[in-house]
Amino acid sequence: MPRAYGFTEYGGPETQELMGVPKPTPGPTELLVAVRAAGVNPADWKVRAGLRRDVVPVEPPAVLGREVAGVVEAVGQDVDGFAAGDEVFGYTAPGSGGYAEFTLVNASQAAKKPTQVSFTDAATLAVGAGTAYDGIRQLALTEGQTLLINGIGGGVGVSAAQLARDLGIFVIGTGSEHKRELAESLGATLVTYGDGGSDVADRVRAIMPGGVDAVFDLVGGDALRAVAGLVKDGSKIISAADPATAQEFGGSAVERDRSTQRLAEVAALVATGKLDPHVSDIVPLERAGDALHAVESGHARGKVVIAVSTGGAG
Ligand SMILES: NC(=O)c1ccc[n+]([C@@H]2O[C@H](COP(=O)([O-])OP(=O)(O)OC[C@H]3O[C@@H](n4cnc5c(N)ncnc54)[C@H](OP(=O)(O)O)[C@@H]3O)[C@@H](O)[C@H]2O)c1
Repeated sequence: MPRAYGFTEYGGPETQELMGVPKPTPGPTELLVAVRAAGVNPADWKVRAGLRRDVVPVEPPAVLGREVAGVVEAVGQDVDGFAAGDEVFGYTAPGSGGYAEFTLVNASQAAKKPTQVSFTDAATLAVGAGTAYDGIRQLALTEGQTLLINGIGGGVGVSAAQLARDLGIFVIGTGSEHKRELAESLGATLVTYGDGGSDVADRVRAIMPGGVDAVFDLVGGDALRAVAGLVKDGSKIISAADPATAQEFGGSAVERDRSTQRLAEVAALVATGKLDPHVSDIVPLERAGDALHAVESGHARGKVVIAVSTGGAG
C-alpha cells in the first residue's frame, strides 16, 4: 500500500504517524500525482490541531500537507491541458494530503513545472511564494515606498522580500537575530522583535522616522499590534497570519489567487532566477514529523520540504 504521513485524530504531534493509504482515484477534474516533494506549512499543524475545521474540513485519519510537486499518473475525464507524465505542482485537492507517495490535485489549482525548477522548489510555490506574490500585488506599492514584513525569515517572508525589493521598495523585516544574515541577503534590513515585541516599533522608527507605507504581516496577534501604528493608512496592512487583527487597524487578509495562471507566473520567476523560495531543509517522508516540528516551532527559516520519491527529489 502506498505510504503517507498523517494524523489519526485531532490533537498534538503525538497523533501523527506514517500510514498506508490506498492509491486515490482522480475525480473528473482531478490529477493523480506521484508526489516527488511536498511543502510544509504552518497550516498543516493547524489542520491537525483542529484549528482550521471551518476552512479545511478533514475527517481523521487524514494525510497532512497542502502543496506538492510531482508527476501526473492519471487524469480525470474532464481534465484538459494535463496528461500522464507531465511534471506539475500545485495545491492538493480537498480531502487529500501532500505528505504522501500519491495525492490528488485539482487541475484548476495546478500548473506545469518549468524544467529549470526543481521538484523541491516547485513544491513550495503554491503556498509560500504564492501568498507573497498575491500580497505584494495587493499592496500595490511603487518604487521608493517602504514596506515592513512582519516575520521576514519564514516561508512567505523570504519571497515577499525579494518581490518587493525587485519593485524598488525599501524593505524592513522583523525577525529573530538568527535571521539577520538571511534578511540582508534578500536586500532587507532586519529589526529584531525581542521579548514581547514592545519596542520593535521604536527600532523601526530609528531607521524610518516617518514610519512605513505598508505592513505585510506573517505573525499576527500582539506582534502585529506592535507594528500596526507604523502605517498611516490602515488599509495598507495585510495579514496572512491573522486577518482579524489586521481588520482592527483597517487592514485585511491577503486575498489568494490559487489559479493555474497565478501558479505559472510565480514559477516563471523562479525559472528565470528572479525568485528563490529558499528551501532550507529537505527531509525524507519517513521523517515528516521532524519537518513539521521545525515549522510548528514558529521559527522556520525559508521553506521546509519533504522529499517523497525513492528516486530522490531535486
Ligand atoms: N492565507 C493563506 O493562504 C496563507 C498562506 C501562507 C501562510 N499563511 C499564514 O501566514 C503565516 C506565516 O506563514 P509562513 O509560512 O511564512 O510561516 P513560517 O515559515 O513559520 O515563518 C514565520 C516566521 O516568523 C518569525 N517570527 C516568529 N515570531 C515572530 C515575531 N514575534 N515577530 C517577527 N517574526 C517572528 C519566525 O522566525 P524567527 O522568530 O526566527 O524570526 C519565522 O521565520 C502563518 O500563520 C501561516 O499559517 C497563510
